[in-house]
Amino acid sequence: MTTAPLRLGIAGLGTVGTGVVKIIQAHGELLARRAGRPIEIKAVTARSKDKDRGIDLSGYDWAESPEAMARRDDIDVFVELIGGSAGMVRSATDAAFATGKDVITANKALLALHGNALAEEAEAAGRVLRFEAAVAGGIPCVKALSEGLAGNQVTRVLGVMNGTCNYILTRMQSAGLTYDEVFQEASDLGYLEADPSLDVGGIDAGHKLALLSCIAFGAKVDFDGVRLEGIERITIEDIHRAADMGYRIKLLGVARMSGRGLEQRMTPCLVPESSPLGQLEGATNMVVLDGDASGQIVLRGAGAGEGPTASAVLSDIMDLARGLRMHTFGQPAASLEELPRAQSSVPAPYYMRLELLDKPGALSKITAKLGEAGISIDRMRQYGHAEATAPVLIVTHKTTRDALDHALADFETTGVLATEPVAIRIENV
Ligand code: HSE
Repeated sequence: MTTAPLRLGIAGLGTVGTGVVKIIQAHGELLARRAGRPIEIKAVTARSKDKDRGIDLSGYDWAESPEAMARRDDIDVFVELIGGSAGMVRSATDAAFATGKDVITANKALLALHGNALAEEAEAAGRVLRFEAAVAGGIPCVKALSEGLAGNQVTRVLGVMNGTCNYILTRMQSAGLTYDEVFQEASDLGYLEADPSLDVGGIDAGHKLALLSCIAFGAKVDFDGVRLEGIERITIEDIHRAADMGYRIKLLGVARMSGRGLEQRMTPCLVPESSPLGQLEGATNMVVLDGDASGQIVLRGAGAGEGPTASAVLSDIMDLARGLRMHTFGQPAASLEELPRAQSSVPAPYYMRLELLDKPGALSKITAKLGEAGISIDRMRQYGHAEATAPVLIVTHKTTRDALDHALADFETTGVLATEPVAIRIENV
C-alpha cells in the first residue's frame, strides 16, 4: 500500500468546501494516521478568489477553473463541491475521469440526472466516483447500504431526506403557524435552497431517494420514475387533525421493489406519532433501511450544514486514501438494471379530511361512495362546528390509490362537499 500523500483538488469553497478544508487542516495528523498516508490539498478553485472564508488558503494553488483543476497532473482526486447539474460541473467531471482522477462529489442533482453515464465513464476510465455527501448530509447512508448491508436483499428504503421540509412541518405543528409563516422563517434562517422549490417541491429529496434506491435494488438511476409531491399544500389544519388521530405529516421518501416493479415516491405521508420518523423534529434527516437479514436499520442525523456534509466528503476521501475502491452504485455500472416502474403503489391506509355541508344524509352519501369503491373505514370522527359545514376525518383500511381516486371523484357527484377533500397516505413504518 502506498504511503505517498493523497493529493486533492477542491472545486467549490462554499459551505461544504470550506468545511472540508477546515477538517483537513484541523485533523491532518489524525487522518494521516488512520489512512497510513497524508491527505494533502494541492489546489482549490471557486467563483471568487478574494472572498474571506475564514480559512487560510495560502498553502494551496488557485486553479483558474474547475476544469483546469481537474486536468492538473499533480492531483489524484477531484473533489466537486460546486453544485448544479450541468455545464461546467459536468465538463470538469468528464475532464477529471479523462485525465485519470477519481471524483468525489456532494452533488445529488448531477448524479440523479447523469449518474448512469458518469458511473460508466468512471469505470471505463478505471476511476472511482463517490458521493456519500450527496444523500442526507452527515448520515453515512450510502456506505450503510453499499457496504454495511451488502449481504442483504434490501426490501425497502425510506426516510426524511430534506431537513428544510421537516423543519417547516414540525415548526407548523409546534408553533401553530401557517405554511406561509414558517416558509418565511425558514427563508430568514437561510435554510432554503436558492430555488426553494427544490426543497418544498420534494425535488432535492427525490434526487437523494433515486440514488439510494439505485444502490438498494441494483437499478439504474431513474429520477424521472420518482413520484414527486411537495409540501406546499399541507395546511396547519391537516397537521392538527392528523395529530388528533395519532399521526405526524412528513415529506417521506419510499423506495420498494415488488412484483409491481420499482416504486419510488417522495410525497407527504402520515406516520405514527410514536414511530422514530414520527418523533423526528426540526431540520434533521432520518433514513430507514430494511434488509432481509439485518432487519430494520434506523439512521438519524444532520442532513445539511458545514460540519455534517464535510464529514461525509471526508469519509469518501478516507476510503480513497486507504485504497478502498467501490463501484459508484455498489456494483458494476453495466450490471445495473433498467427496472420496470411500478404503475401503482402498494395498498395503504389513507387519511381523509372532508368539509361536508351540514344537512341530513351528507355523511351517509360519502360512506356509501367509499363502500362502492371497495374501501373500508377504520376510524371516523366528526368535529363540533358552528358553521354550515361539518369537518369529518376518516382513516381507511388499506386500499389502493386507484380505488381512493375513484371514490374521491365520486364524492364530487354527491353534492355534499363544501371544499375539495384532502387525502394523504399513511405509511406503515
Ligand atoms: N436543502 C437540503 C435540506 C440540504 O434542507 O435538507 C441539501 O440537500
